[in-house]
Amino acid sequence: MSNIDLTLHVWRQENPKDAGRFDQIEAKGVSTHASFLEMLDVVNDQLLAEGKRPIAFDHDCREGICGMCGVMINGEAHGPVRGTTTCQLHMREFETRGVKDIWIEPWRAKAFPVIQDLVVDRSAFDRVIQSGGYISVKTGQAPDANAVPVRKDDADQAFQAATCIGCGACVASCPNGSAALFVGAKITHLGLLPQGQTERASRVLDMVAQMDDEGFGACTSHGECEATCPKGIKLDVIARMNGDYRRSVIAGG
Ligand code: SF4
Ligand code: FES
Repeated sequence: MSNIDLTLHVWRQENPKDAGRFDQIEAKGVSTHASFLEMLDVVNDQLLAEGKRPIAFDHDCREGICGMCGVMINGEAHGPVRGTTTCQLHMREFETRGVKDIWIEPWRAKAFPVIQDLVVDRSAFDRVIQSGGYISVKTGQAPDANAVPVRKDDADQAFQAATCIGCGACVASCPNGSAALFVGAKITHLGLLPQGQTERASRVLDMVAQMDDEGFGACTSHGECEATCPKGIKLDVIARMNGDYRRSVIAGG
């Protein structure tokens, strides 16, 4: 195990109305085995010991599954390692890259207003899900696993789309602040499965309308979202969403 000295430039913002600024914080002797969030924990202990306000940041599972922890690290959503959430990023990655200065910012997007420091309000995603991300079925007893056949390709693609954790990195890294990758993933997940067919047409219309209402930008196929998505969601889901949308509009909604 080795330790590194870092200079952090952390976005500090008291509340949504505060203009915000970068604070420089020296983080000495950071363990390279620590995760990025554990490093922030140690820095917060240091700030508390100095009588200062700790850095506000979001987290929950710390296992890459809840989608709570995303921040911009040196201008990259979730930091420099592909396919990795902020909570699973380790400080050895900075040592390996010879990085000694780390700039830490919240997601920057109109639809994700900053609440405090690194914490943003991602409830716009919840409202998009509420607008159509469900299926109507008579649940009754759990059916046999094989009672509803699903083609292997469809099952695999639906599963891949379902791995989206709603972290928002796609929005934060898109120059348009588009949520197309996230919404496309949700539409693809349900649209490929038999259970998702009942509301397939209304779902895409409702979710796209809600996405627009929330202030997300349009997709212009930059591809930054795919590059930074920690779950490897592909642009294909956006093509599928657009196809479903066109068919639904032509069919009269
Ligand atoms: S599509 Fe990827 S980057 Fe976007 S919210 Fe889902 S997991 Fe995060
Ligand atoms: S804290 Fe849950 S994905 Fe990072």
